[in-house]
Amino acid sequence: MTHPKRGLRRNLTAYGDEEFSLFLRRAFVKAMGYTDEALERPIIGITNTYSGFNACHRTVPELIDAVKRGVMLAGGLPVEFPTITLHESFAHPTSMYLRNLMAIDAEEMIRAQPLDSVVLIGGCDKTVPALLMGAASAKVPAILMVTGPMLTGHHKGERLGACTDCRRFWARFRAGEIDDQEINEVNAKLAPTAGTCMVMGTASTMALCAEAMGMMLPGSAAIPAVMAERMRNAEATGARAVAVAKERLTPDKVMTPQAIENALRVLLAVGGSTNAIVHLAAIAGRLGFAVDLDGFDRMGRETPVLVDLKPTGQHYMEHLYEAGGLATILRELKPLLHGNALTITGKTLQENVDEARVPEKQDVVRPRSNPIFGEGGIAVLRGNLAPDGAIIKQAAATASLMTHTGRAVVFESLEDLADRIDDAALDVTADDILVLKNAGPKGAPGMPEAGYIPIPRKLAQAGVKDMVRISDARMSGTAFGSIVLHVAPESAVGGPLALVQNGDRIRLDVPQRRLELLVDEAELAARRKRWQAPKRSEEDERGYRKLFLDTVQQADLGCDFDFLAPKVTMRIPGTR
Ligand code: FES
Repeated sequence: MTHPKRGLRRNLTAYGDEEFSLFLRRAFVKAMGYTDEALERPIIGITNTYSGFNACHRTVPELIDAVKRGVMLAGGLPVEFPTITLHESFAHPTSMYLRNLMAIDAEEMIRAQPLDSVVLIGGCDKTVPALLMGAASAKVPAILMVTGPMLTGHHKGERLGACTDCRRFWARFRAGEIDDQEINEVNAKLAPTAGTCMVMGTASTMALCAEAMGMMLPGSAAIPAVMAERMRNAEATGARAVAVAKERLTPDKVMTPQAIENALRVLLAVGGSTNAIVHLAAIAGRLGFAVDLDGFDRMGRETPVLVDLKPTGQHYMEHLYEAGGLATILRELKPLLHGNALTITGKTLQENVDEARVPEKQDVVRPRSNPIFGEGGIAVLRGNLAPDGAIIKQAAATASLMTHTGRAVVFESLEDLADRIDDAALDVTADDILVLKNAGPKGAPGMPEAGYIPIPRKLAQAGVKDMVRISDARMSGTAFGSIVLHVAPESAVGGPLALVQNGDRIRLDVPQRRLELLVDEAELAARRKRWQAPKRSEEDERGYRKLFLDTVQQADLGCDFDFLAPKVTMRIPGTR
């Protein structure tokens, strides 16, 4: 007789007679062709996140084959099942709007089915956080793997990568520097293989953070998608999933406050995507922890950017892989990490690093004595324009704009932005500050990556490459510029951003971490009185959209739904 909570006996369908439920389940599972012998093994679920609309997950079918092989070799029974999958370019209005839906799907499917452990296959930006959020809430032993980054393409002798170079070439096209034919040629070369964007975008950042958090096998994050080693990594992940099931290694045992702090540290040191702070806050929230943005900022002051990767540096993920991957970064960060955090290998983070290969010579990960940028990539701003915080990716910004006072040029919505940004009559100069409202979690909805407000065409054509831009939106991790994001509370719920008018003066002071609207309090109070919340449409009152609008939280809380996270028991980072 198997343990009542193992294998097919887990999570029985409720007929009021457990033995009958098991009898029926065995009848149907036999229709899949399994023998009794196979069904006595630990059952290892595998999330199938393949979709014809997800290029970043093109290799998932062959990865699943390799995972299955690993599970079988280790004595388990692999069973794949579908979950929602999300690709950045195939999710309207934005993948962030659907991240929580994927997290709910993953959680409920993991919980509903008789799995002793689960292999989570993520890759494209929102998939890794969604799977980790779901697994954390499902409380079933789980191990993550990613599809891995793409290899780079080439154009006229230079390397090209999605999607930092997508934006760079698009900006050149908008400025009239390259023609239709060349932009089309570039378009065909930006994403030359299967896999995730190969710059330090959200996918690469979340893969490295997840490995730092201990949820993946050591070395997993940076292996390119199309390499044979990626398949061997999948086989090893499958084998480890069987041990994880036997050891009952549930996500809460690995994603501890120390492990999440390690991930925050890595986010800062890799010059990672601003999206990752939202996702890590959401993952932490599922475990009862809150990310303290001011504490995160303090970590940033002592954590330099070490990784020389686009968009803040020059290399791509394939170079980080050759340079030893995450282990090389962790070696440099050793005094700043919780090396004793348990990982999915059953060993500590430091033990994993000690076992990893040391590259002979590399120039992708700098020593702490010679960083790419002296502080962490992301700074947290406060002030009367962002009482609950805003962030800026200072490592990818223009140094001379980090202390800047300018006149606000305001766009009330994404539609307003699209209508007027390229209008030749737009009253705007390079010293102005572009402000976008109603693009936050509830405003857009879904907090799209619209924070990378384009430079108005007439200024771009005059050679302007960067301006201060402020919004409650997000920005792709592959983008760059002097861009203030995630302003909280957002304008759609009446945050101070809603009160900004054309011509107001705004002061950005990144060294002092301040963001101030230079309008006196009496005037702001009068504007607040006149402010009206955006009207909800008929479409806003039904289905997932209603659930989203009613319950999504602000950026500083990870944009999770308010009913999905338990009560906060601890703030991260704690005192060291
Ligand atoms: Fe999937 Fe960039 S679009 S990782």
